[in-house]
Amino acid sequence: VSLRPHNTFGLDVKARLFARFTSVEDLRTLLALPEVQAAEKLVLGGGSNLLFTQDFNGVVLKNEIRGLDIISQDEETALVRAGAGESWHGLVQYTLDQELSGIENLSLIPGTVGAAPLQNIGAYGSELKDTFELLEALEISTGQVRTFSAAECGFGYRESVFKGPLKNQFIVTGVVLRLLRQARPNVSYGAIKTTLEDMGIGGDPTPREVSEAVMHIRRSKLPDPAQIGNAGSFFKNPELSQLKFDELKAQYPELPGYPVPGGVKVPAAWLIEQCGWKGQRRGAHGVHDKQALVLVNHGGAQGHDIRELAHDIIASVREKFGIELHPEVNIF
Ligand code: EPU
Repeated sequence: VSLRPHNTFGLDVKARLFARFTSVEDLRTLLALPEVQAAEKLVLGGGSNLLFTQDFNGVVLKNEIRGLDIISQDEETALVRAGAGESWHGLVQYTLDQELSGIENLSLIPGTVGAAPLQNIGAYGSELKDTFELLEALEISTGQVRTFSAAECGFGYRESVFKGPLKNQFIVTGVVLRLLRQARPNVSYGAIKTTLEDMGIGGDPTPREVSEAVMHIRRSKLPDPAQIGNAGSFFKNPELSQLKFDELKAQYPELPGYPVPGGVKVPAAWLIEQCGWKGQRRGAHGVHDKQALVLVNHGGAQGHDIRELAHDIIASVREKFGIELHPEVNIF
């Protein structure tokens, strides 16, 4: 089965077996099949954070569990439950239609609801963990569904226990978010503020207006996977010690940095751009010309070529700045 329609890099790789599931019962049935039990398993949501470098000799399980509901509300908040196979942006739109606030800054992030907690998706001053209530996940070894609170998910910057100690052990089936009935827009991110101003919107934007500003920014910087294959940010933004940051800042006064507990986070895009990579092209693949953190497939690229480009970028950033970049996408 070709995985081309199932990965946003648009890579033409094959999986030995491919199956979809639309419910927990479906999933249990699939997992009980001998050929599935014996095979290496890869659960796919939107395929928007993956780089395939070769054919996949296992079974791809596509999560298509649907459902969007408000399950309870109090004076201030509402709990929204979403099936893991729903599109993330569809969920954002649903919450805006319900006049709920809390995930508008995460508008237009590709991928599914079920994939969102795995890497604690984040953008423009918000992260999934800020509104996360719980998730439901099926344990592959037992077929049991259990819930995980935010604390149990161990969220960090693009991190969770599902990428660490519990990797490949659970399949997320649903996510519950706690959203605000009274909007409290987060416009802390500079680009949101200026975009809202450009849109002629004053100091008190609605969640929908913030969402529109975010969509405008994303469309201007990030390539649409339907047009140019990509998986968003290819690398994480590295965190430096204050000492290392001060040293580099003395040498490169323009170096941007944002304080985080224990140090300073610097934009990988800046480092990559300084190394001359922005807009570079190697045949069918390259570095996006409007956001140096995004690697792109202009059409017909191979996964291993993109991986090689990533290695070369890592090496040049290491050489110039003494900083080690780490991929944000999952490489297979
Ligand atoms: N910059 C450059 N060159 C570029 C692009 C950016 O020097 O080509 C520098 C600028 O100094 C800019 C700074 O990087 O001010 C930050 O850029 P941007 O706001 O585009 O954000 P980012 O740090 O590059 C992160 C996330 C994105 C998220 C944006 C917005 C990571 C790995 N990436 O990128 O997430 O949309 O912030 O909040 O944390 C993703 O994870 O796939 C993703 C797109």
